[in-house]
Amino acid sequence: MADVENPNERLIIDDIPATMKAVWFESFGDTNQLNYDTQFPTFHLRPNETEVVVQVYATSINPVDWKLLLGYLQVPCYIRLLKSRLRFKFPFIPCFDVSGVVVKVGENCTKFNVGDEVYGMAKHNKCGAAAEYMVIDENLLASKPNNLTHKEAASLPLTALTSYQGLVKYGKIKPGDRILIIGASGGTGTMAIQIAKHFGCLITAVCSKENFDYVRGLGADEVLDYKEKNWWDEFDGYDFDLVFDCIGIPENAQQKARRVLKLNGDFVTIVGDKPRPLTTSNLLKYGWDKMIIPHYYHITTEANGEDLDIITDIVEAGGIIPHISEEFPLSRTKDAFEKIKRGHQRGKNIIVLV
Ligand SMILES: NC(=O)c1ccc[n+]([C@@H]2O[C@H](COP(=O)([O-])OP(=O)(O)OC[C@H]3O[C@@H](n4cnc5c(N)ncnc54)[C@H](OP(=O)(O)O)[C@@H]3O)[C@@H](O)[C@H]2O)c1
Repeated sequence: MADVENPNERLIIDDIPATMKAVWFESFGDTNQLNYDTQFPTFHLRPNETEVVVQVYATSINPVDWKLLLGYLQVPCYIRLLKSRLRFKFPFIPCFDVSGVVVKVGENCTKFNVGDEVYGMAKHNKCGAAAEYMVIDENLLASKPNNLTHKEAASLPLTALTSYQGLVKYGKIKPGDRILIIGASGGTGTMAIQIAKHFGCLITAVCSKENFDYVRGLGADEVLDYKEKNWWDEFDGYDFDLVFDCIGIPENAQQKARRVLKLNGDFVTIVGDKPRPLTTSNLLKYGWDKMIIPHYYHITTEANGEDLDIITDIVEAGGIIPHISEEFPLSRTKDAFEKIKRGHQRGKNIIVLV
């Protein structure tokens, strides 16, 4: 395929070159496992009936990309034996988030056509967005919001889906609800504040002092600095409808959360008490946490095009504005992973391919 500079010509590309630029790894480990290749073969890019091939214009980096590289997302081996589709195939191309243009469609695709501008989140054992082309099921995609560039759109799917599913599908937020968002200035917290605001909630945001103005600008009504005081102990008398935990709150936090929640309040965490591999003992611990707070949800984000359609509507109504921290070329993906490891992001880091 020739290098096409005119975006309109790009829309009619229906063929895939034999090789592409891609980042990949062959075994789990730290960032030194990541390889950047300009001649990565594309023979695996054959869509099944409901899949499409997307030319990736941009992707973004999430903490889960690094955890996946470490091997944290492997399920216990007895589950892998029973369900082969949960296994990882190597070489593995990382990154969940994508924004780009459909260049090929499977036989039974009905949602998208060649030339459509789309964005979405891949399934965890497929990923694939750190490359010029990727295969993804069309049901995981939505039309790119009209008011966003591909770079901006690529910064949204995983964090926006996490916040939407945590707040709306599990937390069932409604206007006037009081929400406590912990880790409010990161990729997910940034989305959570904006979505909660869009639904008319009152927001208390926990982040470091340096980010107070930032989270207020996103819609937080009240801000607390997790560094300066033992903020959990400040909460006597608070009455939250929902705690949305993006950090993994400290020890004894489950008991403390009961104090700040209304009787029927929900506690939704996306981390648990610390990042953990999916071992049997951690799965048992989840059951125990659920017994302590009945409305306790430790959620895993579901890649889901229908939820993303709703997010597109919120974006186009001005309810979500993307916040990009830094842009990297694909060749510097390793640097972007190193940055996410440090854990003090404001908004998202993106990888730009086109
Ligand atoms: N379960 C799921 O499906 C799911 C989905 C998405 C994300 N996650 C996980 O959720 C976590 C957050 O993701 P993210 O994308 O928001 O990460 P991120 O973009 O790296 O943001 C992390 C944020 O946490 C803040 N922070 C660090 N320590 C804190 C503390 N003790 N108290 C309050 N805030 C603190 C940092 O702000 P300061 O600079 O102010 O310190 C930073 O803004 C990651 O562990 C990620 O893997 C899980």
